[in-house]
Amino acid sequence: MSAQVFARIAGTGSYLPEKVLTNDDLAQFVETSDEWIRDRTGIRQRHIAADGETTCDLAEQASRRALEAAGVDASELDLIIVGTTTPDIIFPSTACLLQHRLGANGCAAFDVNAACSGFIYALAVGEKFIRSGTAKKVLVVGAETLSRMLDWSDRSTCVLFGDGAGAVVLTADAETGILSTHLHADGGKKEMLYNPVGVSVGFKPEEKNAGVRVLMAGNDVFKYAVKALDSVVDETLDANGLQRGDIDWLIPHQANLRIIQATAKRLALSMDRVIVTVDRHGNTSAGSVPLALDEAVRSGRVQRGQLLLLEAFGGGFTWGSALLRY
Ligand code: COA
Repeated sequence: MSAQVFARIAGTGSYLPEKVLTNDDLAQFVETSDEWIRDRTGIRQRHIAADGETTCDLAEQASRRALEAAGVDASELDLIIVGTTTPDIIFPSTACLLQHRLGANGCAAFDVNAACSGFIYALAVGEKFIRSGTAKKVLVVGAETLSRMLDWSDRSTCVLFGDGAGAVVLTADAETGILSTHLHADGGKKEMLYNPVGVSVGFKPEEKNAGVRVLMAGNDVFKYAVKALDSVVDETLDANGLQRGDIDWLIPHQANLRIIQATAKRLALSMDRVIVTVDRHGNTSAGSVPLALDEAVRSGRVQRGQLLLLEAFGGGFTWGSALLRY
């Protein structure tokens, strides 16, 4: 029998566009206020991609930083996976565009679309490639320019999202790394959070909601997300024989501070063991978890050997988690 192989996070990187949009800036063009946004979501500001700055541009910066931190050259990669719901173009995939930019020609490359859970889904796939022995070095990216698909006159959605990217380099390791991943979806809840524009359904610009925009039943999403995340963190603890409180750090998807607090409570973790970036980044969809992870690593809070629980919830609905020894 061959020895067990883990997928270990060898390096992390992230990138945020320069432009910052504060709640007060938003209040200039939609009927909202800094107080309302902070009270309901915890968000104070978000970053917005410059004109012409694409998801692949953000992904490239984050990836270069992750490769440097891991001490891995792009030419050594066996696979690139990009979690995104805002690809530069319909095809080729953003992963293929990124592969060429990085000079990783020849390795496999594809996108995963699981909305805000995109990074967790992509991480789970990358981990399986390493565990199975199919790949030794995998670049996993979460990158988004959600600002490009928002209706900037809809205060119930445009205040929530931001642009950004994060990346990790996974390498095969005999000792430790990702311990388990857990993925779920419920396609029956499609219309609670979606963007109806498509290819196969046809572009219908004459219809009211046919522009490229996110539609959401915020309150229903909130309730479903809290329950789904409670359930997946319980599942993760059970699968690994852990108790509530055994986790060193919770690195959650950054959609809403109140959702994050609910998950921390479920895990019996105080908020000083939870990485929070939603106040400064808003919801960067698939970018949020690797952005938060990179920030926590670079600030020295997350240390080698610690037990990390990553989780996310998004349109689909999709949700999932990853438990890892960093
Ligand atoms: N500024 C001011 N008022 C706003 C507003 C804004 N940006 N957005 C909505 N409102 C108003 C609503 O119109 C409503 O007014 P009404 O009572 O006069 O009808 C009121 O605020 C309450 O709206 P509601 O949607 O019930 O608020 P909420 O407490 O559920 O908070 C969200 C709204 C969106 C912040 C919250 O539901 C949420 O975060 N949901 C999860 C969304 C999410 O995370 N999505 C991504 C998942 S990956």
